[in-house]
Amino acid sequence: MKKTILVTGGTGFIGSHTTVELQNAGYNVVIIDNLSNSKADVVDGIEKITGIRPAFEQVDCCDLEALEGVFNKYPEITGIIHFAASKAVGESVQKPLKYYENNLLSLINLLKLMPKHDVKGIIFSSSCTVYGQPDPENLPVTEQAPIKKAESPYGNTKQINEEIIQDFVHSGANISAIILRYFNPIGSHPSGIIGEMPNGVPANLIPYLTQTAIGIRPCLKVFGDDYDTPDGSCIRDYIYVLDLAKAHVAAMARIVEGKNTDPVEIYNVGTGNGVSVLELIHTFEKCTGVKLNYEIAPRREGDIEKVWGNVDKANKVLGWKAVHTLEEALSSAWNWQQKLRERGVM
Ligand code: WQD
Repeated sequence: MKKTILVTGGTGFIGSHTTVELQNAGYNVVIIDNLSNSKADVVDGIEKITGIRPAFEQVDCCDLEALEGVFNKYPEITGIIHFAASKAVGESVQKPLKYYENNLLSLINLLKLMPKHDVKGIIFSSSCTVYGQPDPENLPVTEQAPIKKAESPYGNTKQINEEIIQDFVHSGANISAIILRYFNPIGSHPSGIIGEMPNGVPANLIPYLTQTAIGIRPCLKVFGDDYDTPDGSCIRDYIYVLDLAKAHVAAMARIVEGKNTDPVEIYNVGTGNGVSVLELIHTFEKCTGVKLNYEIAPRREGDIEKVWGNVDKANKVLGWKAVHTLEEALSSAWNWQQKLRERGVM
């Protein structure tokens, strides 16, 4: 009997790729999304890739009544992967209440409903931003690294949500939780049917880079080359979204098969490799043959200088490891950007 997983934010970038991998692994998927930052036709794209159309409900997780209606309609839901959240670091500084209300209330509503509807476990989409700037001796950063004061309301909502989960489970709630701390998700499905679709001017590096490469943006600004790194530009752990999606399947299996040894488990999900902005640009040029127009600009406020993950725990306990190269991830991002142009989308 196929198990059914609720994917909140499932028409979004990581949610849609994770839905594909869940279906490939034999799960039924119910997607809920309020479409505030994605489009319903992503469901068509998922069906095109896997041949299976996931159920889709346009619901806001902050609407408790509507959310409960989903659990009543799909009583077979046994697990949740919670992606739905506002995620723009810069916007969160301008609109903190929107971020606290949306990101905290959506999780609280899900946790409230899980015991009532016999939902065994939840996987929470967290972030390496909870580490802030790790001390040099703590790089690559492990799950035991100290949590630092968040640099933005967005990052703070991730930290608070992790605490909400811990407190709820430790209050005796009969549920399990796995917290996945992502590093920098990049790339798009190799089919070119689904991918990262930022609204307006992208804040993140990869969509801005591919939009520059295709001519939508005149020039990519590299935010600083005077950091304490080999080439002066910031270092991150860029993980292909396909590898990230598969980490969620591994985590969900651990929950539905009852293999989790602690009621709350935390895993870093990255490649374990640190790559600088300039290295990434040169890799993109090499693997696509496209010359990129970029210039060095002043540092961006709030940027972490260097962070990359120690992913031994996910490798050993989840049995998961990122297998794709940076070249594959960047080539997939470029393929997606070209497909969007072919379809006249941008
Ligand atoms: C990466 C690097 C920039 C744009 C992201 C997400 C955040 C969280 C953590 C999941 C930085 C540089 C960028 C540009 C540039 N993820 N850059 N020019 O800041 O690491 O945060 O990962 O929760 O939600 O935003 O990612 O892609 O914005 O920046 O030089 O036009 O690229 O300075 O060093 P970041 P990013």
